[in-house]
Amino acid sequence: MTQEKLNELLKDMSLEEKVGQMIQLPAKVLTSGGLVTGPTGTTQLTKEQIGMAGSVLGIKGAEKICELQKQQMAKQPHHIPLLFMLDVINGFETIFPIPLALGCTFSPEMAEEACSVAAAEAAADGLHVTFSPMLDLVRDARWGRVMESPGEDPYLNSEMARAMVRGYQGDLREKDKVAACLKHFAGYGAPDGGRDYDNVELSERTLMEDYLPAYEAAVKEGCRLAMTSFNTLNRIPSSGNKWLLRKILREKMGFDGVVISDYSAVEEMVPHGIAADVREAAKLAVEAGVDIDMVSNAYAGHLAELVRSGEVPEKLVDEAVLRILTLKNDLGLFEEPFKVVDSAEAGKILLREDFRQKAREAAAASFVLLKNEGILPLRKNFQSEEGSIAWIGPYVDNREIYGAWSFPKRPEETVTIKQGVEAKGLRGMSFAQGSYVMDKGCATKFGRIPNPSDEQTDQWLSEAVALASSSDQVVLCLGEHKDLTGEAGSRTSLGISEGQMELLRKVRQVNPNIVTVLFCGRPLAVKEIAELSRALLVVWMPGTEGGNAIADVLFGDRVPQGKLSMTFPRSLGQVPIYYNHFATGRPNPSHEIHLFRNGYMDEVTAPLYPFGYGLSYTEFAYSEVKLDRREMKAGERITASVTVTNTGDMSGVETVQLYLRDPSASVVRPVRSLKGFQKVSLAPGESREVSFSIEEPMLRFYDIDMNYVSEPGRFEAYIGGSSDTENGAEFVLV
Ligand code: BGC
Repeated sequence: MTQEKLNELLKDMSLEEKVGQMIQLPAKVLTSGGLVTGPTGTTQLTKEQIGMAGSVLGIKGAEKICELQKQQMAKQPHHIPLLFMLDVINGFETIFPIPLALGCTFSPEMAEEACSVAAAEAAADGLHVTFSPMLDLVRDARWGRVMESPGEDPYLNSEMARAMVRGYQGDLREKDKVAACLKHFAGYGAPDGGRDYDNVELSERTLMEDYLPAYEAAVKEGCRLAMTSFNTLNRIPSSGNKWLLRKILREKMGFDGVVISDYSAVEEMVPHGIAADVREAAKLAVEAGVDIDMVSNAYAGHLAELVRSGEVPEKLVDEAVLRILTLKNDLGLFEEPFKVVDSAEAGKILLREDFRQKAREAAAASFVLLKNEGILPLRKNFQSEEGSIAWIGPYVDNREIYGAWSFPKRPEETVTIKQGVEAKGLRGMSFAQGSYVMDKGCATKFGRIPNPSDEQTDQWLSEAVALASSSDQVVLCLGEHKDLTGEAGSRTSLGISEGQMELLRKVRQVNPNIVTVLFCGRPLAVKEIAELSRALLVVWMPGTEGGNAIADVLFGDRVPQGKLSMTFPRSLGQVPIYYNHFATGRPNPSHEIHLFRNGYMDEVTAPLYPFGYGLSYTEFAYSEVKLDRREMKAGERITASVTVTNTGDMSGVETVQLYLRDPSASVVRPVRSLKGFQKVSLAPGESREVSFSIEEPMLRFYDIDMNYVSEPGRFEAYIGGSSDTENGAEFVLV
């Protein structure tokens, strides 16, 4: 449809019809089933309002969606097609590793591929919009939603943002693409105490410099929707924050897509205490620039009347509706409202073999090897059938390894570790019986899995210990249950359950050759686990091909290459902890406990494993950093290079990272900031020169007057395999 036709359509629509476009229904209002992630006010809608609604949330299934599309379009005066939206966060039916794990790949290419697979599957199943990418910067592991973010670094998150938007959207009119929705705008990742939905206080400088860049990167990549966040930002709920949505998102960042509220967030401005009632909440939201009210009764119940009474100019409604119609048009829905297909055709696309292969590669690349005392990779050549490697723990044969935002229709397609190991056809593997649900802590927070009795647990424990003592090596598969992560998954502890710790301690008493495979959706405090294990591999929540990818990595068919995209603390008390913190007046470079220095009395300040850290089965040596010149002006560049050598005896992939530091500026700068990374694949003995170009825009920040500028002076550049590298050189910006 041409722009002119869209304008004509808008002119021809009644006020009720226009408001209808701005209402999103939860699918369960129209049909049985559907995803529900919170309370909704849509129970109060009239039949007419339901018939007029412009979009639907939370439904899967090509045929169901087609049927609803037909049914709803028939009710609309202008037969405008509806938008069907869903949270497709890390894959649709082929589940990829959680976004935090994808961050650890340091591979925007892989993230793009993961999202384009997700888009192909979701589009084949009838969807038009995914509520992804989630780009909230995360520094506090207590917050359950850290699993949905690429991590703690503005630069890495921005690279991932661009890649994810490209992967989902490509050319939006293609059959295998969906529109992306950046979220949660803004600053949702920094709630007080790590408690979900809580207040966020960020200085404007921190917001601009650290929290906004990844959202902005998505906007610049052409992301079509943006979702408001639940939280108050500096005391103002985002869905009513005109400054945030109009001034920052639209004016400053240039966003011209559709703004949708988070789930019932418009109504929630009443309990927040900035609207006396839902009517006022509707007014605040439309003034702030929220185009679609997700599942609350605010727009449906009050917007038309607010316009009629003259309290809200109709112009605001028209602008919002035009944006929504434009999105529908750009998706090609006016010409082809049933982009899908039928379930038979969708069936050919979902879980395609090449999709599974990509998920397997991405999972393997996301695992982070935190420790290895020469025990990994595991031997493959055991001579006997006897148990030489014992596989023990609740995650050995567990399919719930796909993350809190995955709703596969066929969870039975998920490959467990046991299946992955068995597929290798090796001798000498024994699997502990009955160790699926070891104790309460492995069960879901909703208690869906019945807890075993004490006697049952004791029996499993002694069987597992007996098996460990008769085996050469033990692979302990432990973790945090997926339902302890994700939305509302905040925690006040960062460990795994006591039952699993007991298992680890008991096994250790009979066999020290322990490889721990750790499932988690957040950085955990793993000091004791690391001490008791000879190797520790973090596998996050790896998805459909998890078991195969884990077997690949443990047996050395693939070499671990993940690097932490979020810091692992030593203890909960260090949280929030992140590598790009600010220098204090009393720095503590030794990280030891020091009276009257920055830090703690009972713990060193350094994290257990810093951002950017991750081992391989081989070793990489770095030469000193070479700069081709020591001085530059704006418009010039310095080339910084190192030679990286694989000094081990296996091939491997290293992520070479560039960090910059501005040691003297008009405001305090982070101790270092990631400004580039490159992945290099090296055969044993092979060397490669890796170069980064340093340019003046990379040195910019918000100065004392909030201007985004660089300031002349001395700078430090570091290049290495982790954020704590000391391999540096100095240069001057004149
Ligand atoms: C979450 C969003 C999600 C929405 C729709 C909300 O509860 O905060 O991230 O996209 O539900 O399911």
